[in-house]
Order: sequence, then structure tokens, then C-alpha cells
Amino acid sequence: MPLTSPLAKNGKLLEFPHGFLWGTATSPTQIEGHIDNEWTDFVARDGGTCRIACDSYHRYAEDIEWMGKLGVNAYRMGIEWSRLQSEAHGPLHRAELARYIDQLDRLNAAGIVPMIVLHHFSNPPWINALGGWTNPATIPAFVDYVTKLVAALRDHVRIWNTFNEPDTYACCGFLIGEFPPLRKARFHSFRAAIRHMAEAHERVCRVIRAAGSSLGQVEVGFSKNWTYFQPYHKASPWDALIAAFTHSQLNSFVLKSFHSAPGKTAATFLGVNYYGRIRFRNLQPLVPTFGFSTEELARLGVECDDMLERHPAGLESALSEMYQQCRLPIYLTEHGSSSTDEAFRERDLRENLAALHRAIAGGVDVRGFYYWSLLDNFEWQFGYSKKFGLLSVDFNDANLARRMKPLAQIYRQVCLQNSIGH
Ligand code: BGC
Repeated sequence: MPLTSPLAKNGKLLEFPHGFLWGTATSPTQIEGHIDNEWTDFVARDGGTCRIACDSYHRYAEDIEWMGKLGVNAYRMGIEWSRLQSEAHGPLHRAELARYIDQLDRLNAAGIVPMIVLHHFSNPPWINALGGWTNPATIPAFVDYVTKLVAALRDHVRIWNTFNEPDTYACCGFLIGEFPPLRKARFHSFRAAIRHMAEAHERVCRVIRAAGSSLGQVEVGFSKNWTYFQPYHKASPWDALIAAFTHSQLNSFVLKSFHSAPGKTAATFLGVNYYGRIRFRNLQPLVPTFGFSTEELARLGVECDDMLERHPAGLESALSEMYQQCRLPIYLTEHGSSSTDEAFRERDLRENLAALHRAIAGGVDVRGFYYWSLLDNFEWQFGYSKKFGLLSVDFNDANLARRMKPLAQIYRQVCLQNSIGH
């Protein structure tokens, strides 16, 4: 199906605030390849591993050129702890640091503002060997690493993101057994990991603010994944109960651990990752990631990409709820959809950007949007079967050729015009 122009269908353009950041997002384990962490030996459901991934470790200069063609002015990327430090309180590896500095310099020279994520679902092996984030000794080790990293990068980075989705990380690792260390129903470990990450977050926020940046006012926050959990039939008490319980653990508990009350944090912003919702029916989560096909879900009126139910209206309420709770500027640090149907993805982007625009018009201070993801990549337990990229990657080609998908052209015009047609 041909895609429509991003210009207004009915003449109406939704304009975003001056200086708004339009970016894309990636993470080291998903794109870099040649990594030594808990994912190195992990085999995904489709048989894929992260060993080469998109080989961005060697191809980052080309990826930045693609970003230039996309017209983005921001990029949320991770720096991989396991590359930089081989023991607690050890020095940072110079060659690895120099590679990241080259990447940052190329981004800055291209007018693309980097936001650096310090933790995205992975740790160095020596941290995992001692229990990872369930062990409080990980907190000072992380603070030491970040202190050294920030001192080395203060001339190259202004915006820092401490933790990406601690909720997803701890839930998948300790409650549903889908991420290393593949534990199930370990509530104590789940809550301990969240508390320790929250404490580390607060401490490194202070370190980062004290270090500052020669590029301007330093900003720091973490990214909360916000999924709505609801019963499919409102009158079903068991489904209502499981939805409320999941919400209390994954949303309320995590947000409160990181932001107990407005003004009580050294963070300067809140990152929000938003994809949609999960509804429960007979205690089953009605989403493709739990084994339902998109067709059978569509028959139940549940419209999904290859992962989760779409719920654009929820983006507006999620943003206002979190803004009221935290009273900090917000970056929408991830939204995207996984599908090979580009018209579906275009509709999803439009509807979510319209919801984002309504939230801003309603007074929520949102400063930027990062599309997940720049490239088709290693989608954790699902491997290469999920297609979130603005660019496709040919994983059968030794050169891992990247190509713009139709959605990339739409997004490009959004970035260049700072607006979207409605
Ligand atoms: C994560 C990404 C992931 C994306 C799509 C987010 O939960 O931060 O690493 O690829 O969602 O599932």
C-alpha cells in the first residue's frame, strides 16, 4: 500500500515546540556485536545471537551518515560498561574509550545531540558473577565506573540517561525468566534489583551534575517503560486483580523507588518509553509476545504490532500522569512498532505523535522524541524476528547492508519540519 505524505491530510499541521529533539534510539548489545556480557552466549527463540548483531561496533560512522540522511538532531545510544572496565574500581580501557569518543565527536559534528545510556539490560561478567544488581556491592562499582566515564566524556556529552527500563530488566530476569539470569517468580530479587538500581541512579545523578559538561547545561534522568495493564473484561475480578498487581509492581513501585516525591531527586528529567498496553483475559496477557497471533487478537478487538497492543490514547494520559507525579521535563526516549507492514507502522507513528502533541498542548513539558529503533536489530529473547528499524539490515549479506524503509521517509519529514500532518 503506498504511504501517504506526512503533510496534513486536512490541511492541519501539528507543530512541535521550537528546539524539540527528534531522534532515534539503539542499545549496544542489540547493534554493536563483539560484546562480552551475559547476552554473548544467549540463544534467542529464532536461534539468533548478539555476537555480530548489526556490527555497529565497526560500522558506527556509516550509521551516523544514515542518521544525517534521516534528518534527526538527536541520538540515544548506550555505552557498554563491559567494554570499558574489567574489574571493580579498575581503570577505563583507553582504546575502547577512544572508539566511543570518535563516535561522539562524529555525532556532535553532524549536529546530532547524543544522549548516553549507562545501563541497558547488560553488565560486565565480573558484576554478574557476584549477583549483578541483586548485590548491593554493584552500587559502588557502578558509581566508580560512571565517575571515571563522566570525567572522560564531559567535553563530548551533555545528556545522560542512567538506566534504561529497570522494570523490564528486573521483571524479565527475575519474574518471567526471559532475560539472563532466567529466574522466575523471584520477587525478592526483583525488588532488591530495583532498589539497588534506584540508589545507584540517585548517586550517579549527583556525580554527573557535579562533573557538568563543557557543552552546556548537563541533563540526567532514567527511562521508565510505561505499559498500561488492564483487564480485557472490566467485570472480570481475577483479570482486574492481576492487572492491578502488575501495575503496582512494574509501574508504581519502580517509579516511586526512582522518584519518591517531586523535588526529591537529583535527576533533571524523566525518560519515558511507551509502546502501549497489555490486557488480561482469563489471566492470559493478550499480546503476541505471549504467543497469540496478531490475527486472533484483532478478532478480539486488540490491535497489536508483533509485540504489544497499540494504545496511542494512553500516551497522552501516561505523560500527564507521570508529569504530575515527577514534575520534571520529559523525553519520550522510545516509541516504535515492529511489523513488516509499513502502512501499519506509519499509522502507529502518526497516532502516537498526535497523542504526544495533545499532551504538550495540555501543558506537559516534553522536550524530545526518540524513535525505536534506527536499525532492525537483535531483539533480546526474540532475536532478529522483530523489525523495529527505520532502516532494514540485510543479515544474510556479509556487509550487513542498511536500507531506508518507507517509514524512514515519513519520519525524515517530521524531523525536518518539526511537525506532522493530522
Ligand atoms: C527496550 C528495547 C527493546 C524495545 C522493543 C524496550 O523495552 O528498551 O531494548 O528493543 O523496547 O521491545
